[in-house]
Amino acid sequence: MKTYRIAALAGDGIGPEVMREAILVLRAVEKTFGLGFAITEAPVGWAGIDAAGKALPDDTLSLCKNSDAILFGSVGLPDRDPTLPKEERPERAALLRIRKEFGLFANLRPVQLPKALAHACPLRPERQGDGINVLVVRELTGGMYFGQPKKTETVSEGVRRAIDTMVYTTPEIERIAHVAFKAARLRRKKVTSIDKANVLENGILWREVVARVGKGYPDVSLEHMFVDNGAMQLVLKPTQFDVMLCENMFGDILSDEAAALAGSLGMLPSASLGATSGERTFGFYEPAGGTAPDIAGKNLANPIAQILSSALMLRYSFGETDAAAAIEKAVGVAIRSGLRTGDIYSSSEPQARRAGTREMGAAIAAAIG
Ligand code: IPM
Ligand code: MG
Repeated sequence: MKTYRIAALAGDGIGPEVMREAILVLRAVEKTFGLGFAITEAPVGWAGIDAAGKALPDDTLSLCKNSDAILFGSVGLPDRDPTLPKEERPERAALLRIRKEFGLFANLRPVQLPKALAHACPLRPERQGDGINVLVVRELTGGMYFGQPKKTETVSEGVRRAIDTMVYTTPEIERIAHVAFKAARLRRKKVTSIDKANVLENGILWREVVARVGKGYPDVSLEHMFVDNGAMQLVLKPTQFDVMLCENMFGDILSDEAAALAGSLGMLPSASLGATSGERTFGFYEPAGGTAPDIAGKNLANPIAQILSSALMLRYSFGETDAAAAIEKAVGVAIRSGLRTGDIYSSSEPQARRAGTREMGAAIAAAIG
């Protein structure tokens, strides 16, 4: 039996609730597909601070290093302990640190609006066309998130200034562009590269390098779009997009916008991948939504993003494409059956039934195989 080692880091807020349902689904996959998942849970985020004094405890980090993939929940509680320095807060000390530590430069966020959830899309039906299906490919370890200098300083009496640096090298742009073009080949063969080449040096270089890499993929069509126009086009005509290739910050912003089109942030999984060595791609899989502290612990959260993230893990890190597809199919079954967590519920849908986190997870697990 093939066994995969999974580090399951649930984190804060709704993380533990949705992680529980993802593990339930993985257990169903084990039985149906004859696979073994050695799942080890460990604390991260505020849970890490409570358990071991830091957002990414040493034991948690070594567990990740000894695993084939990381299944991650979410971290960060903005209202908790404002005196904790920003460098030690979970967003930077756990999430950004893991991205950098494991070289997870490619973030894939597949946004898909299922037909049955057309009502949950904020756009009028005629703008939804035959369905919205966009893959946001976001560069994840460069740009303004990590560029140096990054600091706040006092320039004169009573005046401070904050500095973030946007910086990209050609190899960083090249490798993420290859990811986007390869992904497009498996889809509708179109890449829209997002930049701000009319203002930023980074934008000019980005456009130049992406165009050059694109020459190696003559079967994929490439267009360039300024980020402000991209944001607008997403709400005007989202069906024009197949793969959207973005630098770190633009991808952060546009992927939330795109997720809203797919009904809810609670539906959006994500995969963060590093370089492939041999057949293995180490990956980090997390729902794109946050900790949602307002609904945490109430059995209200939508577990689908977490469950779909585990499907991405099976596909990208383990190469178990059938098992991954089975999870995605099971999610479709649950949705078509009318089950709805609060974020995708509408009283205008006659067959809709309100479901809690546990009921949704159980229905998806039951639909495996
Ligand atoms: C995301 C999140 C993170 C980011 C935050 C929590 C640091 O918004 O994964 O999109 O900005 O990358
Ligand atoms: Mg974000």
